[in-house]
Amino acid sequence: MASLRVGAVLLFAVLLLLLEVASAGLNGYFGTKSRYEDVNPYLVRDPLSLGPAAAGSGLPPSCAPLQLRALLRHGTRYPTAEQIRRLGDLHARLLRRRPAADAELSAAACPAAAALAAWQMWYNESLDGRLAPQGRRDMEHLARRLAARFPALFAARRRLVLASSSKHRCLQSGAAFRRGLGPSFSLGGDEVEVNDSLMRFFDHCAKFVALVEENDTAMGQVKAFKEGPEMRKVVEKVASALCLPVEELNADLVQVAFLTCSYELAIKNVTSPWCSLFSEEDAKVLEYLNDLKQYWKRGYGYDINSRSSCILFQDIFQHLDKAVEESKSSKPISSPVIVQVGHAETLQPLLALMGFFKDDEPLKANNYIRQTHRKFRTGRIVPYAANLVFVLYHCDQVKNPEEEYQVQMLLNEKLMLFQHSNETISTYAELKHYYKNILENCHFKEECELPKVNNTAIDEL
Ligand SMILES: *[C@@H]1O[C@H](CO)[C@@H](O)[C@H](O)[C@H]1NC(C)=O
Ligand SMILES: *[C@@H]1O[C@H](CO)[C@@H](O)[C@H](O)[C@H]1NC(C)=O
Ligand SMILES: *[C@@H]1O[C@H](CO)[C@@H](O)[C@H](O)[C@H]1NC(C)=O
Ligand SMILES: *[C@@H]1O[C@H](CO)[C@@H](O)[C@H](O)[C@H]1NC(C)=O
Ligand SMILES: *[C@@H]1O[C@H](CO)[C@@H](O)[C@H](O)[C@H]1NC(C)=O
Ligand SMILES: *[C@@H]1O[C@H](CO)[C@@H](O)[C@H](O)[C@H]1NC(C)=O
Repeated sequence: MASLRVGAVLLFAVLLLLLEVASAGLNGYFGTKSRYEDVNPYLVRDPLSLGPAAAGSGLPPSCAPLQLRALLRHGTRYPTAEQIRRLGDLHARLLRRRPAADAELSAAACPAAAALAAWQMWYNESLDGRLAPQGRRDMEHLARRLAARFPALFAARRRLVLASSSKHRCLQSGAAFRRGLGPSFSLGGDEVEVNDSLMRFFDHCAKFVALVEENDTAMGQVKAFKEGPEMRKVVEKVASALCLPVEELNADLVQVAFLTCSYELAIKNVTSPWCSLFSEEDAKVLEYLNDLKQYWKRGYGYDINSRSSCILFQDIFQHLDKAVEESKSSKPISSPVIVQVGHAETLQPLLALMGFFKDDEPLKANNYIRQTHRKFRTGRIVPYAANLVFVLYHCDQVKNPEEEYQVQMLLNEKLMLFQHSNETISTYAELKHYYKNILENCHFKEECELPKVNNTAIDEL
């Protein structure tokens, strides 16, 4: 009897160990629900570290930053009401399949289902996508790291323009960012300025809404992948682990279970029993499902996805132009630091408009294997607290007058390679030349207009 108990304890310990190992392997596959630390692992040890890449910025020593524009995704958030409803539904099914009387018997036959039935459903719909306490820390730490990286721009009493999407989680993120900078920073106004036409351009773009958002056939590839052989296998495996008939599960419920694993880690820093349902191979399939949706809804899938961000693109270059003009006429720079808080859906289209993370082949339901080494991995691009930073420099003692103004871009605090040169720095003139077509021809109003309907003709029908 005693040895049996020891055996059971040992077995339990081994199971726990396996759980740890398994979930550690899942972290890289949470797509847009990834923790920022999974992109920059050195932050786990020191959340204020500037990381190994901090050393060589590749800048001539005679360059000084003039203007910084940071586009941020809000920090770690709670699940949306919709996701919480689905999770409640799944959890209720697990509770139903376990009659209290033979709980022990059922636990032996189906340990995963028993563990999940015992898991406490602590999310409720009022949390609906709000910023989690971890999300506030994400933002405070990010603010402190940016200030440490660009001390001249973030020096005390310099003006900061802070704008945000109207969503609660973004406003709260903006406030946390400001707190992170400390009390001596003066804001333009007191408040975070709400600007949805810049930060939620997708809502305001009629063509995007009609062609993609509200179009049932637009996500055809996503639907096909949900029904395809790779997802089918994952659904069957999870059904079997939970001792549920496979008809009771579907891709959406399995995805919610996977999301819960990611949420528990990001919000509470725990490895939840939901994670034990998935192997690394399963996680790769679920990551692809997430990426596929982002690709068709926010990325290269449809041109209008990226074209709808023209308004933001133009705004960035207008402010860069203005800073260059001010510098040329020896005026103080009116907006040295511009911080704007939005969504993954704000950053992804802009990055697509600028040509980043574009694969040779589109992501489709039937090329999962061929996309194993794809560039378009949303967990690397837009985790929580993702940030895209443009820095304009003024450089002295240059050979060529064009080199007086130079630009760098950082994504998640790492220098990006410019599309036109594969280098981490570009003259501002060269950059504008490369994006000439977009600068001249991409205008929100024209891009987003729906073809005119002839009302007279319709009335007559
Ligand atoms: C929802 O959950 C939060 C956090 O667990 C809790 O503070 C809040 O009181 C709950 N609200 C309702 C309506 O149950
Ligand atoms: C939002 O930003 C755009 C572009 O800079 C500007 O034209 C518009 O007036 C702003 N809207 C608000 C409400 O501030
Ligand atoms: C919906 O999307 C499909 C596939 O891209 C497209 O063929 C169709 O024209 C779209 N429908 C509308 C109303 O835009
Ligand atoms: C998260 O949990 C890990 C492992 O238990 C621990 O080492 C780490 O300090 C925790 N991180 C935070 C921010 O609490
Ligand atoms: C940048 O590097 C990639 C990969 O090495 C290459 O395919 C691409 O052509 C290069 N682009 C330029 C502009 O040199
Ligand atoms: C609308 O359709 C009617 C009937 O087909 C046609 O007579 C009229 O010229 C059209 N109007 C416009 C503005 O195209």
